[in-house]
Amino acid sequence: MSTIDLSCRVGDLTCKNPLIAASGTFGFGREMSRFFDLGVLGGVVSKGVTVKERRGNPPHRIAEAPGGMLNAVGLQNPGIEKVIKEDLPWLIKQDTKVIVNAAGDDLGDYVKLAEALNGVGIDAIELNLSCPNVKTGCMAIGSEPALIEEVTRACKEIADVPIWVKLTPNVTHIGDMAKAAEAGGADAVSLINTLLGMRIDIRTKRPVIRNNTGGYSGPGVFPVALRMVHECFKAVNIPIVGLGGIMSAEDVVEMMLAGASAVQVGTATLLDPYTMPTMIEALPSVLESIGATSVSEIVGQMRPW
Ligand SMILES: Cc1cc2nc3c(=O)[nH]c(=O)nc-3n(C[C@H](O)[C@H](O)[C@H](O)COP(=O)(O)O)c2cc1C
Repeated sequence: MSTIDLSCRVGDLTCKNPLIAASGTFGFGREMSRFFDLGVLGGVVSKGVTVKERRGNPPHRIAEAPGGMLNAVGLQNPGIEKVIKEDLPWLIKQDTKVIVNAAGDDLGDYVKLAEALNGVGIDAIELNLSCPNVKTGCMAIGSEPALIEEVTRACKEIADVPIWVKLTPNVTHIGDMAKAAEAGGADAVSLINTLLGMRIDIRTKRPVIRNNTGGYSGPGVFPVALRMVHECFKAVNIPIVGLGGIMSAEDVVEMMLAGASAVQVGTATLLDPYTMPTMIEALPSVLESIGATSVSEIVGQMRPW
């Protein structure tokens, strides 16, 4: 039996281990519970939820890409009221932290979502200021430091749980975006959302994805995510939740060395539903192999040249 301590803290939130399911790749958890007990996970982030139901973008919404995939689902979800009534009660009963990913068109939407989630029993809200697949809000807000700060502050004033701000990599200086979230009172930042990409069918000359562009995710984005997590680690004092292309326990350790206090796993779960439990099982021996006795002691311990 390993004596390695896997527990980790993201601000006031303590997770039993640093592996959290990423938004949009785990639904609201129920389907995934057919594969394993969600209680093994550090946490689950829900699919992005909006004020009103959204039917998402027309097909095709997904395309293959070297080292990963493109998606333009377009935030399909039943809307906050239904999610609170039908999905969250089940998820909250699982022995894991529950984080709701909230997405809006404007400040008013984010405030409504934060209000609606008060008293529901979740552990944190992740403000999705980074979805590249919808026409308004989201990534437009997440590319403007002043708007990031305004939305974060407004939600922080209302919410009874910690606020995480999910950042887009489709900016030049991600550290400035993290600083804006910190200035607005965010408890943590999570990054990265997907990189804006495109594929073209050479016979029809049309983009493969009906939305023309889509978000690129998977192992191909991992080096970009690592670099951005480290930039944010240097820029802010709030914790960072790192994601983007994590495929193995070694990747988890690399992401934490770059500065992440916890990680999320997305596309890897779409390839293999057991990937997170497998990583959790492998993590103690990877930590042992580098002489660590706990997962928290490696956060930000990369030694730059
Ligand atoms: C099919 C799909 C749907 C996604 N939906 C959401 C979403 O609703 N909200 C969100 O913040 N991110 C969403 N994402 C982005 C992921 O949460 C994650 O930030 C990104 O895919 C990078 O991590 P990965 O390489 O481990 O997948 C989605 C990603 C995929 C592949």
